[in-house]
Amino acid sequence: MAAVLKKIHLVFGENRINNQCSSVQKLHISGWISINDTDMDAMGFYLEKQFRPDTETLGPEDERRRLWRQRRSAMERRYHKSGRYALRRFFKFKIMVRLEHAFGYGLRAAGLYSQGRKNAMHIAVNTLDLHFSKLSASFDGYRVLHLTDLHLDMLNGTAALIYEKIKDLKVDLCVLTGDYRQRTYGKYRQILDPMKKILDAVSAEDGIVGTLGNHDPHVMAGDLEAMGMTLLVNETKIIKRGDEQIGVTGLDDPHDYYTCQAKEALAETPNGFKMALVHSPEMYHAAERNGYQLYLCGHTHGGQICLPGGYPIITHLRDGKKFARGSWQFNRMKGYTNQGCGVVGIPVRFNTQSEVALITLRRRRAGRPGKA
Ligand SMILES: [Fe+2]
Repeated sequence: MAAVLKKIHLVFGENRINNQCSSVQKLHISGWISINDTDMDAMGFYLEKQFRPDTETLGPEDERRRLWRQRRSAMERRYHKSGRYALRRFFKFKIMVRLEHAFGYGLRAAGLYSQGRKNAMHIAVNTLDLHFSKLSASFDGYRVLHLTDLHLDMLNGTAALIYEKIKDLKVDLCVLTGDYRQRTYGKYRQILDPMKKILDAVSAEDGIVGTLGNHDPHVMAGDLEAMGMTLLVNETKIIKRGDEQIGVTGLDDPHDYYTCQAKEALAETPNGFKMALVHSPEMYHAAERNGYQLYLCGHTHGGQICLPGGYPIITHLRDGKKFARGSWQFNRMKGYTNQGCGVVGIPVRFNTQSEVALITLRRRRAGRPGKA
C-alpha cells in the first residue's frame, strides 16, 4: 500500500471541551508523518472528505438536534470520539485490527472458521417476561421487539435472516439500539436497502424507535427517519394508553460519542414508567439514578467469541462489564443486553448466539414476588 507524506494536526483533550462537562487544556501537535491509506481512513481524513454535514438529508431540526449534530460531526471527522486521548485510541484501533486479522488466520488454520461463520448465521428469537411494580395496568402485557447490532454489510444474508425471524411477529413497539453498518468510518448507504426491508417487516402498533451506535454516522439519521423510524437522539417519546403513559428515552451512543446531552435527557423525562434505549450498558448508573425501570442495550455482541461457558474475552466496555450479556438488575432497574443480530471484525461466533429479543412487560401485583 502506497505511503504518502501527510501533515497532521492532533488535539488532545478537546473532546472534553466539546462535551462541556469540564474544561481541560488543549494540547496541539502538528507535524509531517509518512502515512498509508489505511491509516488515513482510520484517522478520519477520509471521513472529512466523505461526510461533511448535509442539512438537507437531516431534515428540520430544533436547537438540541442542531447542537448534537455539530458536536457529533466534529467528533466523527477528527476521529476524536469520546476518548480523552485521540492518539492512544488511534494506535489501539490499529492494534485491534491487526490482532483480528491474525486471529482470523489462526481460526482458518485450525479449521474452525467455517463453523464459526455458521454459528454467526443462526439467529434465535429469545423471549422473556420482565415484571415491574410501577407499570400501569394499560401496559401490562406490552410487547417490545428489540433488535441491535445488525451490522448489515458484514455477512451477506443477515437482513434476510432477520426478516424471516420478525415478519410474523405482532408487537406493540419495536426498538433498535444501533450499529447498523460494519465499519466505524466510510460509506454507509449500502445498508439502507436491507435496513428498509427489515423495518418494512415490522408490525408494531406504536411504531419503531431507534438510536445510533458507535458504528453509525450522524448523517444516517435522516435516512433512518425517512424509513419510518423515530430516531431518539438524547430525546424522549411518550407512549399513551388512555390516561396512562410510559416514557421511552433514546440516547446517542455513550461508548464513542458521549456528551452531556445524554445525562440531561435522562434527567428531563417525566416520572412514571421509564425505559432507556442506549447502544451500550455504559449509562446504567445515570439511568438508575434518574428512576428508569428498564434499560435495553447491545454493543457487546455477548462477547461474540467467548470461552466455553460463554465467558467473553472482549466486551468493548469501559464500565458495566458485568452487564455484557442477557438479563441483569442494577438496584431498582432491570436491564437487558442483547447479543445482537450481526457480527463485526471476524464474521464468526463461538459460545454466543445472534438474537432478536421479544420482551413482554408485566405488571407485578402488590404482595406477589416478581420473576426476573
Ligand atoms: Fe455492534
